[in-house]
Amino acid sequence: MTLYSRILGTGGHLPRNVLTNQELERMVDTSDAWIRERTGIRQRHIAEDGETCVDLAEVASRRAIEAAGIAPHDIDLIVMATTTPDQTFPSSACLLQNRLDIHGCAAFDVQAVCTGFIYALGIADKFIRTGAATKALVIGAETISRIIDWTDRGTCVLFGDGAGAVVIGAADEPGIIDSHLHADGAYRELLQVPAGIGNGGNGSPFMEMKGNEVFRVAVTTLGRIVDEVLEANAMTRADIDWLVPHQANMRIIQATARKLDLPMEQVVVTVEEHGNTSAASVPLAFDAAVRDGRIERGQTVLMEAFGGGFTWGSVLLRY
Ligand code: COA
Repeated sequence: MTLYSRILGTGGHLPRNVLTNQELERMVDTSDAWIRERTGIRQRHIAEDGETCVDLAEVASRRAIEAAGIAPHDIDLIVMATTTPDQTFPSSACLLQNRLDIHGCAAFDVQAVCTGFIYALGIADKFIRTGAATKALVIGAETISRIIDWTDRGTCVLFGDGAGAVVIGAADEPGIIDSHLHADGAYRELLQVPAGIGNGGNGSPFMEMKGNEVFRVAVTTLGRIVDEVLEANAMTRADIDWLVPHQANMRIIQATARKLDLPMEQVVVTVEEHGNTSAASVPLAFDAAVRDGRIERGQTVLMEAFGGGFTWGSVLLRY
């Protein structure tokens, strides 16, 4: 019998603290009108001092576990996507595992920046398909505000903090139909945090981005992803009920929707309220649309993301 994985439950969590465009106008030389016109963003949530990535991930995970109708100890795999781990080690997945009082199962972090959740879900799906796990907790969580230069108007208006999670479990039929993961490190300098533990903290500890070039490559690449996943599964654009895109920028989302011939009513958009929450963006958007009843059981959903690396990928699933 072929094994598949399917989504059992979803959860999300945002920090209470909201930062509006109007507040940003007082911090850097920008305007609400500029930010809304170029990005669609109106506000973003920012973690308070002392509020960590694992704190956000824990709340989102507990909600996903509750929605799945299982107990934490039923989980036998934890994959956490984050660019902003609480510590260098243990991994955030291990810290989260301990918070949830789960012991012994594999737990590890995935670092693919904004594509992190797509990578984590693709990996967890393969564990379940091979029988190596039966119930996996997959999280995308970020305190991306901590690697933002709050004097750089080119980046600080774009990002926010948050966490989203899903529980997936073994099933006889999909569930997750397919996933495609890609990377090309040749683009490393277009979007990066130069400093790291391994290079002795050399360079800036904050995000540096060539926004214009990132925008151009993102739009073309996401267009290609859509063709790739549809072709690989002998599906057409008409088979997609919902697009759940990475929430980087409204104009990038609209370009991908156009490629799919999807009206914006079939695209889940949270970028206005969340900004770009990196690895948390896709699971947060997915959770929002599941909880408000837009995405229904049996519908076909295409998730996609693009991020630093560059990394990019998609997950096609029947909810
Ligand atoms: N407020 C006001 N002006 C700003 C600004 C801000 N927050 N940020 C940049 N500008 C200015 C620039 O300095 C530039 O001014 P200049 O012409 O005097 O040099 C001007 O606006 C145009 O800048 P440009 O970078 O060409 O604007 P853009 O139309 O490309 O929009 C982004 C900038 C960042 C919104 C856009 O490039 C983008 O969304 N890129 C993708 C970023 C992304 O999604 N990254 C994450 C991927 S996971």
